[in-house]
Amino acid sequence: MRGAESLQKLTIAMPKGRIFEESLVFLREAGVVIEENSKDSRKLIIPVPHFQMEFILAKPADVPTYVEYGVADVGVVGKDVLLEEDRDVYELLDLEIGRCRMVVAGLAEYQPAVHPRVATKYPAIASRYFRKQGQQVEVIKLNGSVELAPLIGLAERIVDIVSTGQTLRENGLVELEHICDITTRLIANRSSYRMKSEAVDNIAQKFMQVIPKTGVPG
Ligand code: PRP
Repeated sequence: MRGAESLQKLTIAMPKGRIFEESLVFLREAGVVIEENSKDSRKLIIPVPHFQMEFILAKPADVPTYVEYGVADVGVVGKDVLLEEDRDVYELLDLEIGRCRMVVAGLAEYQPAVHPRVATKYPAIASRYFRKQGQQVEVIKLNGSVELAPLIGLAERIVDIVSTGQTLRENGLVELEHICDITTRLIANRSSYRMKSEAVDNIAQKFMQVIPKTGVPG
């Protein structure tokens, strides 16, 4: 049975990897200390009973799904994933880390094709963007190493995130169009936001306290 204590316990969905590690730095600065070795372990659920929190570690694209269905009360996720997954969640806060941009890229000598093809890990974002531009393109979904596509003739252009620009440069590609800027966001389940408002506010406040200190381009 769920008592008053467990009602306020907060389950936080985090993508495994870089965002989780950056978020741990955030939380540590805000006074929430998670076991140092947690990030290296293979555990998918990390309880932090002292702070009435638990973290579930997920694939980035699944974080909004866990939050929409309420198995996580809040989540930390990139705006790229939010735009792609289009889940019914409440966007609470821009954490201003993980800064990058969503772009259209291709070879410098790119020539528009009669039947243009665009390769991407973000088919929804790419389709929406080209529809808005009034351009008909075939969107080809890939799961990674998207920069390969123009090099081997799969597609003339790609839609992908660019952070340092190193991957584009090393593969002889250039940014052609800027779609939008991306940062990491704190999201909440709509009913947790009402039913656990104190706990949700508490974590949002903790994040807010440290944004100005660590909110540098990630
Ligand atoms: C992302 C993105 C680019 C790269 C951009 O890929 O899809 O490939 O990072 O970063 P940069 O501008 O700093 O070079 P990720 O590392 O997630 O790997 P993936 O291509 O296998 O998805």
